[in-house]
Amino acid sequence: MSALVRLEVEAGIGTIRIDRPPMNALNAEIQHAFVEVCREAAERADIAAVVVYGGEKVFAAGADVKEMATMSYTDMVEHSSLLQDFTRALARIPKPTVAAVTGYALGGGCEVALACDWRVCADDARLGQPEILLGIIPGAGGTQRLARLVGPAKAKDIVFSGRFVDAQEALAIGLVDRVVPAADVYSAARELVARYVGGPRFAVRAAKEAIDRGLEVDLETGLEIERQLFAGLFATKDQETGMRSFVEQGPGKATFE
Ligand code: CAA
Repeated sequence: MSALVRLEVEAGIGTIRIDRPPMNALNAEIQHAFVEVCREAAERADIAAVVVYGGEKVFAAGADVKEMATMSYTDMVEHSSLLQDFTRALARIPKPTVAAVTGYALGGGCEVALACDWRVCADDARLGQPEILLGIIPGAGGTQRLARLVGPAKAKDIVFSGRFVDAQEALAIGLVDRVVPAADVYSAARELVARYVGGPRFAVRAAKEAIDRGLEVDLETGLEIERQLFAGLFATKDQETGMRSFVEQGPGKATFE
């Protein structure tokens, strides 16, 4: 594991901590390590939910521009897969995930936040996709996930201009889900996902997969994905526990393993 990305576990919540001062620029070492850490967070039974956090000052100011500046087309043919792989690894964690955004979430940093289920940000945070100002476009999923989240017109405004979006605008357009004082970002993000610790994890996993995979395909295919996952839950303890508890004790009383 790289010292630049750590997985810390407390009370059922795994925190993926990006730690590369001053701006948490996401170099290749971080991107590789991120894939490993996401795999570990996905597999560990003692992790029910995940927070991605860059510390009190900054979430991440993007991929490492200094590392990329001298890359050729042939270098980038290979590296561009890693750029997408590391945000995909995060998006595919089959557990609730939230980005705790302080300071800047720009370029690849914003794309990391976009790969989470939710985003909590500081009232003085700035988000954006400034790649256009470097003569490139977002390459870690930004053109796709941003457009799906805020719609194509807003995504084009943000990506074509490269401008920074402040917290209030980000909240208004659905780019973030909660805005809190800067000092409270991490605790607010933990609070958002804490309710999933000790919950019906197979059902949550199926719900996430149905929604995310469904958004990637046409309606009929999405409905088929839902149908299969729905039926599959009838082979799990979650369904047995949830329904037996309802029948015997009434709604909302189930204790899941
Ligand atoms: N890559 C490499 N180094 C970076 C960086 C990045 N993305 N962002 C900041 N830094 C470095 C700066 O070069 C500077 O280094 P030195 O001290 O050695 O000069 C240090 O971090 C501090 O940055 P600033 O002095 O610029 O601090 P600031 O407070 O004036 O500005 C900022 C902060 C607004 C984040 C500004 O640094 C900035 O605009 N950064 C670049 C943002 C960007 O373009 N991100 C997109 C990257 S491309 C990408 O991410 C592609 C993709 O889709 C995956």
